[in-house]
Amino acid sequence: MQDIGHKKPSSLWLLPSLCLAATVPGQGAEVIEIATNDSAMIFVAKPGAPVVFRHWGGKIDDKRALLQKGYNENLQVLPAFGGRNHANIALSLVHADGSLTTELICAGVETSVLDDNRVETIVHLKDSLYPVFVDVRFTAYKSENVITQRAVIFHREEKPLRVESIASSYIPLRANSYYLTHFHGAWGREMRVTEEKLTPGVKTIEEYRKGVQTTMSDNPSFMLSLNHPADEDAGDVYAGALAWSGNYKLTFAIDEREILHFTGGMSPFAASRILEPGKIMETPEMVLTYSDRGRGQASRNLHDWCRRYGLAHGDQPRAVLLNSWEGAYFKFDEKTLTDMMDAAAELGLEMFVLDDGWFGNKYPRDNDKAGLGDWQANKKKVPRGIGYLADYAVAKGLRFGIWIEPEMVNAKSELAERHPEWIVKSPGRAIPESRNQWLLDLSNPAVQDFVVKTFDDVLALSPNITYIKWDANRHVLSPGSEYLPADKQTHFWKDYVDGLYKVYERVRARHRRITMQLCSSGGARLDYGALKYHDEFWTSDNTNAVDRIFIQYGTNMIYPAIATAAHVSATRNHQTGMMLPLKFRFDVAMSGRLGMELQPKDIAGEERSFAKNAIQNYKLVRSIVQFGDLYRIVSPYDEGARAALAYVSKDKKQSVFFAYTLQNSARTSTFDVRLKGLDPAKNYKVAELNPKNPSGVFPGNGNTFSGDYLMKAGISLKIHRPHESVVLHLTEK
Ligand code: GLA
Repeated sequence: MQDIGHKKPSSLWLLPSLCLAATVPGQGAEVIEIATNDSAMIFVAKPGAPVVFRHWGGKIDDKRALLQKGYNENLQVLPAFGGRNHANIALSLVHADGSLTTELICAGVETSVLDDNRVETIVHLKDSLYPVFVDVRFTAYKSENVITQRAVIFHREEKPLRVESIASSYIPLRANSYYLTHFHGAWGREMRVTEEKLTPGVKTIEEYRKGVQTTMSDNPSFMLSLNHPADEDAGDVYAGALAWSGNYKLTFAIDEREILHFTGGMSPFAASRILEPGKIMETPEMVLTYSDRGRGQASRNLHDWCRRYGLAHGDQPRAVLLNSWEGAYFKFDEKTLTDMMDAAAELGLEMFVLDDGWFGNKYPRDNDKAGLGDWQANKKKVPRGIGYLADYAVAKGLRFGIWIEPEMVNAKSELAERHPEWIVKSPGRAIPESRNQWLLDLSNPAVQDFVVKTFDDVLALSPNITYIKWDANRHVLSPGSEYLPADKQTHFWKDYVDGLYKVYERVRARHRRITMQLCSSGGARLDYGALKYHDEFWTSDNTNAVDRIFIQYGTNMIYPAIATAAHVSATRNHQTGMMLPLKFRFDVAMSGRLGMELQPKDIAGEERSFAKNAIQNYKLVRSIVQFGDLYRIVSPYDEGARAALAYVSKDKKQSVFFAYTLQNSARTSTFDVRLKGLDPAKNYKVAELNPKNPSGVFPGNGNTFSGDYLMKAGISLKIHRPHESVVLHLTEK
């Protein structure tokens, strides 16, 4: 909670007529429009009355008609418990005198042009009886067609009030039926796409109160299609993603009038907050987009927004790297690592990342049972220190990165001995085990300082460290904070995440140029809250290419390929005994941010030349994958037999196309597919990359076709057995 200090509510609160955005004469009500280039969210307000939701979708020219529709007070901008609101509650307060009800009325609207692309609109609300003020803040990102929404509350009651729940976003939609796409998962099978028809009643998506691993079960994001299951290229699709790395709750409720009420924000579970007079409480942002061209455009909107506003260095290409984890795990010495770096350089990779296992001396980190928290290089494994290794990498022409997990501690560590009071635990109870480690209490500023210092100290090991993989391998179990007072234990969930964000802010302010990977037992903390401080995320600990087709397909519905770390691993690894061709593994990883994660000396002979060539090819198409528009063409979820997708450069001069077979197809011996996203008027030369043999599987290899032909007639690929794949590079001729 921040003190609002001198930033008192201005006279604006008392002068509602000052505030309304667009007045429509003679109607007594006024229109508030939050507009992007192709979409608008519209509210109607009367001074002193509730602000009512009216429209979200395509832009509407004649807004008067919206005023004629009648004034439905139940569809408010942020429905508070009280008055007629009972089903779709976005705010629930217990006032200082014990009253449970709140009735929010308009107290003003402010609009500020932030820059050429962004307009902020603040809808000021106040309770009709108590001095309680709520701002609903929208930012419209015009060219990305994204609108973000969040709420801020403060009050001047005489005593503290209790915030039972406050959502970031509430949106009602009307249609005959609603189809919800969400991203369900678990460790090793993150972001699996599930689409279901919503039935009357309430559907809730949460991550089961895990506190810091938002994506361990479901990701805090969704897509909604009206009247029919979502199509890739046509129809209304609404998408949203909560920028929050803690407990969340997305609720989709169909009421007795068949209106769908979406409410999304932090989870109110065991999280009521005491709000002192004059202090403010802010919700995280909900990132929203509307597309009238199906899911595909919704994804592209979010990707564009993410690269520009939701990701560190979103305009810079990502390096192709070798990560040591699956190739060495905890078992390495200096030579293991320098050999890996030699091979990485020879293969044409650009960075080496030293993963877990490099630290701890009293309690060496030789497995996951000890050492976490003691961030000093292990003298036995790396006797010449991290500096030596980082210099070695640079001498080989590689960047050097290193793994940390600074929010966590092993019981067997010097840190746990020194600071038992920093550990999240419920007093008097055993701490439930999870990967043999405990969580540090980031609601405590001393712990925040420790984590920032850890980051500084690790970077100080060598000026040649330019990449940090930040991991977080357990979630909250049996919570309790020794720092927070007894009456504020329910503040833990929010204070932890606010503490984490304060740490990220401080780290980023000090180390702007460092590349950071967001990792949490694979992809368990994937959300727009954490992502904006990072350059990329570790998509999943499951690097099996077949599974990755499904995982990456789901992940990239919301989050862009530039940030989707995808590594070629050994064909039999900790996740699977399945044998997969190296080509297939490369072709899958190349559709994200390519890397490798294996013992490179195990790739020899022809496979080695293949790998070298594929890495070169990735560099050729990297900017299309990382900065282009994603077109999903065949979903692996539809039949489970095949998948295809493509990226098209913004100027439509280039495209890279990927196709995969997953199972035997009984129907045909070719994979026939129409391309998407090309310019029909342009001619493209089509070249097959990474062919298994010189003749390849695309008979038109090297020929030129019009975009029109490729999108209407399509291409025929000679693949049909399981685990075959094709990569085509299209360049304008
Ligand atoms: C997690 C990460 C892996 C690896 C290990 C190291 O599981 O997701 O990539 O870093 O931790 O312990």
